[in-house]
Amino acid sequence: MARLSAIIPAAGSGIRMGASVPKPFIKLGEYSILQHTLQALLKSEELCQLIVACQQEHISKVKQVFEAFDHSAVELLVVEGGKERQFSIYNALQFVSGDAELVAVHDAVRPFIQSEQIAKCCQLALKLGGAVLGVPAKDTIKQVGEGGAIVSTPDRSALWQAQTPQVFRKELLTEAYQKAINDNFVGTDDASLVERIGGKVGMVKGGRENLKITYPIDLEVAKLIMRQEDDVI
Ligand code: C5P
Repeated sequence: MARLSAIIPAAGSGIRMGASVPKPFIKLGEYSILQHTLQALLKSEELCQLIVACQQEHISKVKQVFEAFDHSAVELLVVEGGKERQFSIYNALQFVSGDAELVAVHDAVRPFIQSEQIAKCCQLALKLGGAVLGVPAKDTIKQVGEGGAIVSTPDRSALWQAQTPQVFRKELLTEAYQKAINDNFVGTDDASLVERIGGKVGMVKGGRENLKITYPIDLEVAKLIMRQEDDVI
């Protein structure tokens, strides 16, 4: 089984949520969103290391979260994030274990990730170099230009929404990040950095419950999903 290091970017400010603390530290039921996400990741059999990148002022809070876990088989690290998601991940990449063959990036604010989904991404990443979890686009997507004018309507049947985890062979992701930093290129996900250096990345069909908690409505949906999970015996 491939050895996997997971990087968890958690250094966002949470402006879109309008909360007083960054999104990963908002409570969802008994625990913080971050704690739910880490608990879900720790169920993955591939995992050998987990690196959280957060703002300096939250490092001690993350260490407290770690103390609640039985983690003898997994190395837990917390590092300082950067001013963009991409820089948070770049910082964390410097600490990836020499033992890891694959690196997953998973948003701190996606607490409903399942270990079978991680396993599928790992299998495809081993084969191709990279793999991303996603779902077919459900809305028609418009490209909008200046003044709000619609420029084009890409064929929806070929469009997918990329989620995380995004899993890559370690050397491929490291090279892609180094090249992006050198070129001053900032992407909105990890796969886009790998694609631009010619790396192959496959899509793995995930589920819509793997939502990214971004807006207040997402938090309400997350509470509903949690309640449904509680109903399952
Ligand atoms: O804000 P956005 O949706 O891009 O955030 C996705 C993830 O990236 C969140 O888990 C957030 O905490 C993280 N992030 C980060 N460093 C930043 C900005 C966002 O680690 N500077």
